[in-house]
Amino acid sequence: MKINNRLSGIEEYHFKKIESFKNKLINEGKDILDLSIGDPDITTNKIIIDEFLKSVNIEGFNKYPPYDGIRELKVKIIEYYKERFNVNLKEEEVLILIGSKEGINNIIPAVCNIGDFIIVPNPCYQVYVTSPMLWGVNTYKLPIREKSSYLPELNKIPESIAKKSKMFIINYPNNPTGAEANDTFFKDIIKFCTDRDIILVNDSAYMEIVREGKVPISMLQFDKAKKSVEIGTFSKTFNMTGFRIGYAVGNSKVLKELLKVKSNVDSGQFLPIQYAAARALDILEIETSKNKKIYDARREKAKNILKAKNIEYYNSEATFYIWCKVPKGYSTTEFYEKLIWDYGIITTPGYSFGNLGNGYFRLSLTKDLKDIYKYLNKIEEF
Ligand SMILES: Cc1ncc(COP(=O)(O)O)c(C=O)c1O
Repeated sequence: MKINNRLSGIEEYHFKKIESFKNKLINEGKDILDLSIGDPDITTNKIIIDEFLKSVNIEGFNKYPPYDGIRELKVKIIEYYKERFNVNLKEEEVLILIGSKEGINNIIPAVCNIGDFIIVPNPCYQVYVTSPMLWGVNTYKLPIREKSSYLPELNKIPESIAKKSKMFIINYPNNPTGAEANDTFFKDIIKFCTDRDIILVNDSAYMEIVREGKVPISMLQFDKAKKSVEIGTFSKTFNMTGFRIGYAVGNSKVLKELLKVKSNVDSGQFLPIQYAAARALDILEIETSKNKKIYDARREKAKNILKAKNIEYYNSEATFYIWCKVPKGYSTTEFYEKLIWDYGIITTPGYSFGNLGNGYFRLSLTKDLKDIYKYLNKIEEF
């Protein structure tokens, strides 16, 4: 069969494989805890669900929504950016997405031609690598390392690569490491990209999942000229992964091109989901403070157990991930399998995030504290 040969370099989405494997183990009667995918176990607030149900009764709920999203939701996002980050957005600087994964994929052809270059971190959320492959775009995989707090070292990017790159994707707070960016870094990378005419995209999926007491930051706070784009999602902030709703904010020219791609590919998100998302922003404080408490407790517990087991980890305070080092004497795969067979814990092997993830594994703290305690405690000391 003559199929797209770019697909030959791409495997089935990693978590789809883990899901089949997990179901097989469960069918065989194995007692397991899945700490692999970042899909929160916390239920969606009833206020959001009720708004969704109420919206199903509005006349026209079943019609095609506006391609760029409903005005009510855009206005709520504009208010959110103003109140939270003191960033002023106009309506044309907001575009509603069918989840951030969709936006990350579609922004690539919005900006890049076949054969162009994008700079992405290594390790990273792999959609930054596979989507460019699907669109025939090359990636320059920029190492991010613990010694630099998992922030890109901009001076290590060859000028020849920087010159020909059209886009730079970053993701803070970071998956898989849990690292956070700071003001200085954001200012530096905005300048780096502005000087070289590179569209900077921050995937801010975990922006609201930081330690209690810390103030979340948005890249747009530092981009007065609005050259860049921030992609956000309701998935993690409001425990709405299955709803599939997100947004892109920032440079209106890029968003216009993104809308061109989207309006030719999809027809927007179901209206009641958009109303539910708008309602979610009304209860932002309640939801974020609840989530922070839950994840802070899980993170602290998990770190204490890992410490006791002599498993090294990056001491992060954001996202719900912990980026751990594979103990000496094991390959990444050997340890991944050992965690499953000996202790019933499914994790994500670090190489699923790129070759520099080799030697690491990621824990996703999206299960109950009791279970995290019970299963992690089964691990022997290394
Ligand atoms: C860094 C990052 N970006 C985007 C996504 C996708 O989020 P969404 O549900 O909005 O598509 C994920 C999901 O795990 C993620 O980790």
